[in-house]
Amino acid sequence: SGAPRPRVTFLGTGYLGATYAICYAELGYEVLGFDVDADKIAMLNAGEVPIHEPGLDELLKRNLAAGRLRFSTDMAEVAEFGDVHFICVGTPQRADAMGADLSYVEAAVTSLAQQLTRQALIVGKSTVPVGTAEWVEQLVSKHAPTDLGIEVAWSPEFLQEGFAVDDVLRPNRIVVGVKSEWANGMLYAAHKGVFDLAATEDREVPMVVTDFATAELVKVAANAFLATKISFINAMAEVCEAAGGDVTHLARAVGFDPRIGNRFLQAGLGFGGACLPKDIRAFQARAQELGAGEALRFLHEVDLINLRRRTRVVQLAADLLGRRTGPAGPDLSGTRIGVLGATFKPNTDDVRDAPALAVASLLHKAGADVHIYDPQGMDRARAVAPELTYEPGINEAVADADLICVLTEWADFRNADPVALGDLVAGRRVVDGRNCLDSALWAQAGWEYRGM
Ligand code: UGA
Repeated sequence: SGAPRPRVTFLGTGYLGATYAICYAELGYEVLGFDVDADKIAMLNAGEVPIHEPGLDELLKRNLAAGRLRFSTDMAEVAEFGDVHFICVGTPQRADAMGADLSYVEAAVTSLAQQLTRQALIVGKSTVPVGTAEWVEQLVSKHAPTDLGIEVAWSPEFLQEGFAVDDVLRPNRIVVGVKSEWANGMLYAAHKGVFDLAATEDREVPMVVTDFATAELVKVAANAFLATKISFINAMAEVCEAAGGDVTHLARAVGFDPRIGNRFLQAGLGFGGACLPKDIRAFQARAQELGAGEALRFLHEVDLINLRRRTRVVQLAADLLGRRTGPAGPDLSGTRIGVLGATFKPNTDDVRDAPALAVASLLHKAGADVHIYDPQGMDRARAVAPELTYEPGINEAVADADLICVLTEWADFRNADPVALGDLVAGRRVVDGRNCLDSALWAQAGWEYRGM
């Protein structure tokens, strides 16, 4: 407190950049957000959040009103404004390979560097293959005026959708990869708001200061570990099923060991979303390039276990419906299936690489007449999977169904009344793709229940 705070910009106002820009204004920084998408910038300046994230709406309105937060499509303005520029653009999986597509990073950094007129720190936040920070540094030295003293640093983020506001305001660690004391000091100042908030709440936020490569690796290592934890418990689910065990009890029991921990041990349909699946693939591709491919071979298995969960749901559905499986998979023609859930997890409208939507499409491909409902993901799902029939609510989705599948653990689905739903369906058969229903209650209501 007391020390001057740097002015910060966030390049790319997607999920990551928009959340950061808004939360940093909330922390008291003067913030400018940038995007090439004029519609998105207009929306944000009008106080509308383009994504569904609890709490963000209110923070956007408050900080726009306070005059600490603005959004612009003008890179010259951004270059003039910022002491610290955070690169938050997307790094999707390449269309032609497992690696990451860095074209948005390249475009943002090049354009910023060309417009810089004063000293500044450029900090990468996007999830990238290790080595990208060095490459960004070269881009900057190629395109920025040499006498300004522009430096590069890397500081990965660990936002979880649905908890993103808290993850920015109250992170469990700050990681920075730097090459100079000046960069280190700037990044400390750029996180001072976070440290100050922690102090008022009697917490501490550890700051790990390291080199570029390690900072980049921390992010993918963390996501690889989380993905591995989920696939581990799903592998145990397969073994439990073969042996007649119960994976939910197993997870609970092993999770009491603090070295293992009970979080991220929920067996079910597996992981999806914009991060874990693409990150473990890009990580493998990069390790291969570095000659360390063997070290990450297990991540290939993590991916396979995860994808196997999707076909497993289709198989369980076929079993319950008494359908035979041919060489092309089960034939579900003539059946009607009600699917509850499209998003990759609850409390988001995100359907990117959503296991639920993938399963719904597989059921459709197998010949079933699929009726689907999701509390938030309908519009996005419709765009990705137009072949499905979209219904306005739970009751409509399950009406006359021969079987229902619960594929995202929304509270509305967990709390649904199996007795009432039983009156609507043609057959009381349920596949619980997230092990989120009270199986005894559903059995009592006359449902044939299958969990994962
Ligand atoms: C993930 C990480 O959790 C964040 O720390 C990271 O910053 C972020 O990716 C990112 O790289 O940006 P997110 O994609 O929001 O966050 O989603 P998670 O909450 O991690 O869930 C991922 C998937 O795993 C979901 O489909 C969820 O249903 C599934 N999951 C999660 C399980 O199947 N079982 C579990 O026990 C936990």
